[in-house]
Amino acid sequence: MKPTDSLKNVIHLSERDKRTQTAHSEPGVDQKTRVISVASGKGGVGKTNIVANIGYSFSKLGKKVLIFDADLGLGNMDILLGLAPKHNFSHAMTGEKKIEDIVMTGPAGMKIIPAASGIQELTELSENQQIWVLHELERFASQFDLFIFDTGAGISNNVIYFSAVAQEVILVITPEPTSITDAYALMKILHYRHDINEFNLIVNMVKSQKDALDIFRQLNLVVKRFLNINLNYSGYVLIDEKITKCVRMQKIVSELYPESCSTICFNAITRQFTDSSLINPHASKSRHFNWKKF
Ligand SMILES: Nc1ncnc2c1ncn2[C@@H]1O[C@H](COP(=O)(O)OP(=O)(O)OP(=O)(O)O)[C@@H](O)[C@H]1O
Ligand SMILES: [Mg+2]
Repeated sequence: MKPTDSLKNVIHLSERDKRTQTAHSEPGVDQKTRVISVASGKGGVGKTNIVANIGYSFSKLGKKVLIFDADLGLGNMDILLGLAPKHNFSHAMTGEKKIEDIVMTGPAGMKIIPAASGIQELTELSENQQIWVLHELERFASQFDLFIFDTGAGISNNVIYFSAVAQEVILVITPEPTSITDAYALMKILHYRHDINEFNLIVNMVKSQKDALDIFRQLNLVVKRFLNINLNYSGYVLIDEKITKCVRMQKIVSELYPESCSTICFNAITRQFTDSSLINPHASKSRHFNWKKF
């Protein structure tokens, strides 16, 4: 059975799970699991590369890392890592496979839940489907230290949902004004619709640390003034031709070029996240998904 043929079954399945969920206690990942969503608004700013390299860097520190390719209809984390999954999340959604059966092992042992590519129905999950997905992820994620969502481009319901349920949101921007305004738009939606008041910022594809800090300061002024949001500076990634080279080779730069300028930046970002063990004050109260928001 092709995934597309049976996607409608998910809705039925989800109705059942939604009823089960309301009948039982509130679900949650294990207290130790840290759940981070990586989003941007604008596409092509480097989210997938950042997730893969930070995931790798955390794995090298001995953390158990799970990456969810939350770009459900147009995922490409598997391509970036040179994996060739036989099954992906669409098969879990139709009930053909369990998440345990589709999860792949990437560099440094990090685990990846691959997404489908080219299944339009998955680009906008219904509310019931979202709830079902969250339940499945929570069930599986509790054995990991770090759970990262690599969201897609834009401000689709999926992007908003996965960012809203995560404990922490990392926004990725580049120096392009369009990237900055799109990230602002995304923060605005998450703030007003889901009461998220804290974001972490990574500035990608910069020529220097100074450029990254200048951009952070400018954006920080605007969000403080107009949105009353806290923006944490989580670091920067220098523009590095080795990244493009590695993308073509389907390898990640941190593995292939551990001394490259971008790998040094990825490691610094990882350190920043390990040091600030809890960046989001919501996370200190509860290590659960922000389930109550829905
Ligand atoms: N620091 C960098 N230096 C040079 N090139 C980079 C850097 N970061 C990302 N890129 C390039 O940008 C391209 C897009 O990166 P990536 O796929 O990670 O973006 P994305 O935000 O996940 O895109 P999408 O929104 O489509 O999911 C890649 O092909 C990569 O080569
Ligand atoms: Mg991507």
